[in-house]
Amino acid sequence: MFVVGLTGGIGSGKSEAAKLFAALGVPVIDVDHISHQLTAPGQPILQDIANALGRQFLLPDGTLDRAALRAHVFADNSARLQLEKILHPAIRQAALLQLAANQNSAYQILSIPLLFEGDGYRTIVNRTLVIDCDEAQQIQRTMRRSGLTEQAVRAIMAAQISRAQRNQLADDIIENNGTLSELSQKILEKHKNYLQACIVSQ
Ligand SMILES: Nc1ncnc2c1ncn2[C@@H]1O[C@H](COP(=O)(O)OP(=O)(O)OP(=O)(O)O)[C@@H](O)[C@H]1O
Ligand SMILES: [Mg+2]
Repeated sequence: MFVVGLTGGIGSGKSEAAKLFAALGVPVIDVDHISHQLTAPGQPILQDIANALGRQFLLPDGTLDRAALRAHVFADNSARLQLEKILHPAIRQAALLQLAANQNSAYQILSIPLLFEGDGYRTIVNRTLVIDCDEAQQIQRTMRRSGLTEQAVRAIMAAQISRAQRNQLADDIIENNGTLSELSQKILEKHKNYLQACIVSQ
């Protein structure tokens, strides 16, 4: 099983890159997506979160008050650690199950926004691919998509590993300052490399 860990700073283009790999037929597993599924209404983990962090984060209709929870853990480090202790093992286990289900594919993409910030996934991935763009682009794209202020985007970026460190740790880097069709071309090139790399390593 050959797994490429896809990462990058907020708004760098990870989701666009993941879509392009998926369009080439590569299975893409996204830990953000798993996290959302695990915290959908009715999921047992919601009770664990409410018990540990407060009933107010579970809204009367059974949904998680994501905005309030995000603000809470952003401001309170011990709350963040508690939430991570509940969520991370469950997400990791679900990701491993999904990877195991795609054993027949030449390789797979595992999208992990905070790959280098934690150590839970480094032993799972065979290679790391960073989607990189300059900070001005990153801020502009994130603001346009999310409606966050520049200050809010910068605060999130400050909580992530620095761009220089991330790029230093990467096996591969795709620069995404250009158009989406340029990104698409670069993903296709990487796809060919990965197909070759996993044939060689088998
Ligand atoms: N090369 C590009 N040209 C134009 N728009 C782009 C390009 N790459 C990404 N975008 C746009 O920028 C925004 C952020 O990209 P994307 O959602 O892929 O980033 P992300 O790294 O997944 O962000 P997050 O960390 O928030 O999940 C999206 O609206 C996306 O469509
Ligand atoms: Mg994304």
